[in-house]
Order: sequence, then C-alpha cells, then structure tokens
Amino acid sequence: MNPPMPYPLAIPCLTDNFAWLVANGDGEAFVVDPGEARPIKEALDDRNLRLTHILITHYHFDHIGGAAELSEHSGAEIWAPKDSVKPTHKIISDGDELEVCGKSMRVIYTPGHALNHVSLYFAELDAIFSGDVLFALGCGRLFDGSAQEMWGSLTKLSKLPAQTLVCGGHDYLAGNLRFVNSLKGIGEQGKRVIENIELAREKKKSEGKSPLGVGLPTRLGDEILANPFLLATDSDFLQANGITASLGAEAFAEIRRRKDRL
Ligand SMILES: [Fe+2]
Repeated sequence: MNPPMPYPLAIPCLTDNFAWLVANGDGEAFVVDPGEARPIKEALDDRNLRLTHILITHYHFDHIGGAAELSEHSGAEIWAPKDSVKPTHKIISDGDELEVCGKSMRVIYTPGHALNHVSLYFAELDAIFSGDVLFALGCGRLFDGSAQEMWGSLTKLSKLPAQTLVCGGHDYLAGNLRFVNSLKGIGEQGKRVIENIELAREKKKSEGKSPLGVGLPTRLGDEILANPFLLATDSDFLQANGITASLGAEAFAEIRRRKDRL
C-alpha cells in the first residue's frame, strides 16, 4: 500500500528540468519527460512503485535523457511523438486517446517549440503535461516552429478547464517573474497570482533553500490571468506595453521577442 501523496509529483532533473511522476492505487506509475534516470529511480524506489510507461513530449535531450535507461531497468514502454527517442514502443500523435496506468490520456499536437511536440492531457488528474510549450508564467522558445504555430498551441491549451494543473518541463520562474514584472497592464487578479508565487519562493529562499519548483504546478486559470504570453488578445495589456501589433499571433510574437531580449 503506497502512502497517499499529491500527484502529479514534480521531480527535479538536470539543472532546471522537471519530470512528472504519477502513480495509481495499484503501485504502478508513469513518468513524463525524464531528463535523467537517477532521480526517477530514487522517487520510484522511495515509494515502492513500478514504472509502466515513460511519456515524452518532444525530442530535446533534456526531456528524453533518462528514457532508455529507465525502460531497460524497469521494462516500461516509451510512448513518444515520432522521431524523438530510441527506442519508442508507441508513437503518439494528435487526437490519440490512450489509457496509461488506468487513466485516460488525450494527446494534443502543440508545435512551435520543437518538431512534433505534443502535450498530454489527463482529465481525471486535471493535468496537462505541456513540455516546453507552456510554463508557469512563461512559454517555450521558438526553435523549430513559428510564432503563429506557438500561438495556436497556447490557444488550444488555454481552452482546457481553468482548474487544469499546468505541468511544464522546466522551472523558469526566476526569469519569467523578472519579465512579467517588467510589464504593465496586468490585471489585479493576475497581480495577485504573481505575488503569491513570489511570496512562496521568497519564503523558501529565506529558509536557505532553493526556490526551484516552488509554486509548481500552477492552475491554467491563473496562467490565463498572469502569463504575459496568454495576454496577446488583451488590448488593454498590449496598449499599456506599447504593443501595436494585431491581437493574437502577431502580438504574441512581439511579446516573445521582448522576452528573448531580456
Ligand atoms: Fe525543449
């Protein structure tokens, strides 16, 4: 019998990556984007869990680095978008409805950051594993895709229920907080979201501990209020920041450019 615990569980990997671990009541677990194997093995051993699935959002090394070793060690299947990792036991793509550890998963194609990037939605967990597309108060850089594609992906994800937990692949909160605090025109509710995250991180720092991971995961409804990349259709916000590009993809592209320059 495993002790009850909050899932999804964020597991730090490498420098600022986060893999996500989820278990069911039968001691089976899946992990999303294991950048390395060791911390995942430790988390599984600590909780006496058996890994059955390794889910991948995109091909970048810091998301797949531990997959092959974990699969070999545990026998877990790797489910991944095409051309992302070897071995892949099942290729997942947009619209797939699959069952993982007894939980229903919907695969959502989310291009913009990396070729074939997918996000993984679990309604029962109220969670979206958004890889490097949507982060707490941020979004991924445009490596293999266009601003138009990334905006389309963010728009798709923002239509999920407001209570959805946003489980992104990194904690970039230090930089994201710096950026959002450099902007004007965030609404009062959005400001409160930002303040709460800052307070939680400051508290951890005052205890002499790393704030990495504090405040994760956020709720989608809070991201819609406070994440500057999701405010590209908010004309007041754009005006306050002197962004004259048309609402949507073009305004998003300008917000992304400003963050890249920070
Ligand atoms: Fe990435």
